[in-house]
Amino acid sequence: MSRIRVLTGITTTGTPHLGNYVGAIRPAVLASRDPQVDAFFFLADYHALIKCEDPNRIARSRLEIAATWLAAGLDPAQVCFYRQSDIPEIPELTWLLTCVTGKGLMNRAHAYKAAMDANEAAGEDADAGISMGLFSYPVLMAADILMFNAHRVPVGRDQIQHIEMARDIAARFNHLFGEGRSLFVLPEAQIEASVATLPGLDGRKMSKSYDNTIPLFEGGSKALREAIFKIVTDSRLPGEPKDPDSSALMVIFDAFASPEQAARLRADLLAGLGWGEAKQRVFDDIDRALSPMRARYEDWMAQPAHLESVLVEGAAKARRMATPLLAELRECVGLRRFGTEHLPGATQKTAKRALPEFKQYRDAEGSFRFKLLDEHGNVLLQSIPFEHPKQIGQLIGTWRGVGQVDADELRRVDGMANHAMVVAALKSLLAATGA
Ligand code: TRP
Repeated sequence: MSRIRVLTGITTTGTPHLGNYVGAIRPAVLASRDPQVDAFFFLADYHALIKCEDPNRIARSRLEIAATWLAAGLDPAQVCFYRQSDIPEIPELTWLLTCVTGKGLMNRAHAYKAAMDANEAAGEDADAGISMGLFSYPVLMAADILMFNAHRVPVGRDQIQHIEMARDIAARFNHLFGEGRSLFVLPEAQIEASVATLPGLDGRKMSKSYDNTIPLFEGGSKALREAIFKIVTDSRLPGEPKDPDSSALMVIFDAFASPEQAARLRADLLAGLGWGEAKQRVFDDIDRALSPMRARYEDWMAQPAHLESVLVEGAAKARRMATPLLAELRECVGLRRFGTEHLPGATQKTAKRALPEFKQYRDAEGSFRFKLLDEHGNVLLQSIPFEHPKQIGQLIGTWRGVGQVDADELRRVDGMANHAMVVAALKSLLAATGA
């Protein structure tokens, strides 16, 4: 069985807050450790340009979000962690998809409709201030997802419609150009019922747009303490019994405390603990929980060049999948090299068709490795080092002989190779050469 590919993007317009951490970052980092999952996390910085015209804010947010994810325990060796804008195949795919996406489908997108409604309510022209970026937002998002053939996309409820649109677009592309094959996986939204949405200072959902957030790392302990002391509570005095759940304080604490710590605070509030003391306790515990991560965050923020190299490496890994897929899609839609196409009516030449190819080589350390190239010379896999070339010979011999490779075995040889594409290459080698 092939592995599950899970992908999600984070728009880089803001500074991560406690709600982002509890609702998105923490569950995603945990899920990425599942050995059955290939996880893709990326900074949706092209999407950020749609909402924000402040270059410094975008630049700062990309850095902060990258540092936050790494500090929260994301292991870039285990997952594919990259910036959307480092993958030129994404805007290229966006165009291929744009050409098969009905304008009527985009007219129905919630984000666009909400912007139009707001214009109408304000007595403005319906399209005032609406860019083509906002209008086409769902196509760019479909490209993010389809580029890596993700099966599952963990998102908030507000994004479900976008995933459905990605499915519609993928199905249409498959139908038009797949000649019976599925060029794209049809993705599914994954909504975590168990993941809490954290309330903000005023009890409404914690969100930058409500200006009620508690910063995760920025501003350090001091900013965390100040924010926690701003959480709205009722005016009961110390000594008076309090309903623990009348304030966001308890829900926020629940997201960080052990069940015992939470039960103790509930009992103490019922018994009359003052809100001020309760806040101090909540601050102390959350601060203790966050401080090792905050130290790592500060380390990353102090080394932007190191962060840069992690993301550049992530982009290279992502492009090893994106480049061959895009080459195939270009073929499918007819953007082919002259001389390789079958023009209708032209007599089929018996020209030798290019084939996938294995290449063995020695790396800088002197170890033996191999690559598999597709018929256009794109790298489909790049192996781990082997001690003896014989091991490679045997492995390749077996794969070619059966025109197959087990997904787990492939993963051991190259964690990021696309199983379906490697199998397709092995099959065409087998078909062409008999072994
Ligand atoms: N639109 C998403 C949001 O605002 C971010 C995003 C961009 C995304 N591309 C994506 C999420 C692809 C999942 C998959 O939250």
